[in-house]
Amino acid sequence: MSDETKSCPTPSNAEPTATRSTVPMWVFSLTLVLLFLGFVYFDHHGGWFDERVYGPYASADQLDSYQPKSGAAAAIARGRKIYESNCGTCHGADGLGKPNQAPPLAGSEWVKAKGVQRLTHIPLMGIAGSITVESQTWNLQMAAMGAALPDADLAAVLTYIRSSWGNGMGEVTADDVKAARAAIGANPHPMSGDEMMKMPE
Ligand code: HEC
Repeated sequence: MSDETKSCPTPSNAEPTATRSTVPMWVFSLTLVLLFLGFVYFDHHGGWFDERVYGPYASADQLDSYQPKSGAAAAIARGRKIYESNCGTCHGADGLGKPNQAPPLAGSEWVKAKGVQRLTHIPLMGIAGSITVESQTWNLQMAAMGAALPDADLAAVLTYIRSSWGNGMGEVTADDVKAARAAIGANPHPMSGDEMMKMPE
């Protein structure tokens, strides 16, 4: 019995109490304020999952392709449109040409020439009679399909065909077109491929 009495807790041997302090109230308040600000930000900038905001574009690259272009990219994008309405019907949107209608521009040595003199003359004067393109001979005729286009537009078309379909060649400038127009002067007859080979590349 005396043993039981001894094991009774004495004040110095009291139940342990938690020593850590509680989470301070300001942490809760700060969390709520931050959440609130987060929602306000989302409300203003998030677009609220509207599919007109999120829906139309499959990727950032696609969205990028709709942005206004500058410099060479702009000329090429513009050239493509002009090409499609002035040249593509015969030479094809893919530049591969069409049997008995027009030779290919993709891979063509006339398009990929180092210089652009012959190339600028072709749409300004037309071509008639035999012309060899990628070792195939064509014997058709093309009117001066580019003569009515302003210099900058024809330059954009030629820049487009030189840089597309793996052709990998550089720009044709409005000045190149202007110079070709001046050289042709008042004598814009369609040349044959052989005649054209006589002028500098
Ligand atoms: C009505 C059809 C037609 C249209 C439109 C047309 N072409 Fe042609 N193009 C031809 C034909 C046909 C030839 C080959 C002529 C020949 O056999 O002598 C040719 C040849 C060419 C050649 C040289 C050969 C080659 O394949 O590289 C170039 C360059 C060319 N065209 C560029 C253009 C450009 C640029 C335009 C637009 C401004 C254009 N053509 C519009 C029919 C067309």
